[in-house]
Amino acid sequence: MSTPSTGDANALEATSLAKSFGSTRAVDHLTFALRRGEILGLLGPNGSGKSTTMKMILGILKPDSGSAKVYGRDVLTDPIGVKEVSGYVPETPQLYEFLSGVEYLDFVGDMYGMGPAAKKERISQFLRALELDGHENDMISGYSQGMKQKITITAALMNKPKLLVVDEGLNGLDPRSAKIVKDLLRELAREGVAILFSTHILEIAEAICDRVLIMQRGNLLAEGTPAELRRRAGMPGSTLEDVFLKMTGTEDLKEVVEALTR
Ligand SMILES: Nc1ncnc2c1ncn2[C@@H]1O[C@H](COP(=O)(O)OP(=O)(O)OP(=O)(O)O)[C@@H](O)[C@H]1O
Ligand SMILES: [Mg+2]
Repeated sequence: MSTPSTGDANALEATSLAKSFGSTRAVDHLTFALRRGEILGLLGPNGSGKSTTMKMILGILKPDSGSAKVYGRDVLTDPIGVKEVSGYVPETPQLYEFLSGVEYLDFVGDMYGMGPAAKKERISQFLRALELDGHENDMISGYSQGMKQKITITAALMNKPKLLVVDEGLNGLDPRSAKIVKDLLRELAREGVAILFSTHILEIAEAICDRVLIMQRGNLLAEGTPAELRRRAGMPGSTLEDVFLKMTGTEDLKEVVEALTR
């Protein structure tokens, strides 16, 4: 396994990424960068292209045009290199449900070529931290949604990734577990891990993201720290939620609710 270059300040550079599905332009020439140790929130209404962007960055979906580099590794020419240094929490967990939690994580460790001692240490560290111990030998098919999410998060962190891509990763977690994961993400960022994080829960974005991108119809609508966006929207004392609703043109929700109840 080659070591990622350490010279670049940027962990991720996405340049003019574009992807269409038939006549739907899911991502429309999107350019942004993510620094080491930074948590970047990817916000946007349903269907605005967040998951598609993440999949292109990780080499899961091929862009129609544009490029993405992760620690200097081009996802088109070195997709394995990108996967070696990345962890991914997909929006829908895809687990082998007939395995136990420990068996699944052991399998993920094998895929990364980890040795038995490293796997064991990593698995027990996370099972304890995420309060899953006691259930590690039960079949995943019997896990609750939140327990499956915790296994998915642990799997993404098995290989000590330098870029972590989290697509709505707090889904299904109870408040205590969500807090543990938020603290874990901040700690990872402090250690230098770059984190791209999508969420619809704007309080979470506000609490943990250093910077946010707001997407709409595959385009970048706005970019900045939550405070900058509030200022730019002329709403300095408001929440990120108010700013988001204003920027995405959905602030007049009363009309929508009325239409639905008519
Ligand atoms: N495999 C696919 N086939 C066809 N269309 C797709 C596919 N994946 C995504 N799309 C379309 O691309 C657009 C962007 O989808 P994407 O999943 O990236 O949005 P999103 O911002 O992640 O939305 P959400 O907040 O609902 O998760 C949508 O119009 C979606 O219907
Ligand atoms: Mg999505």
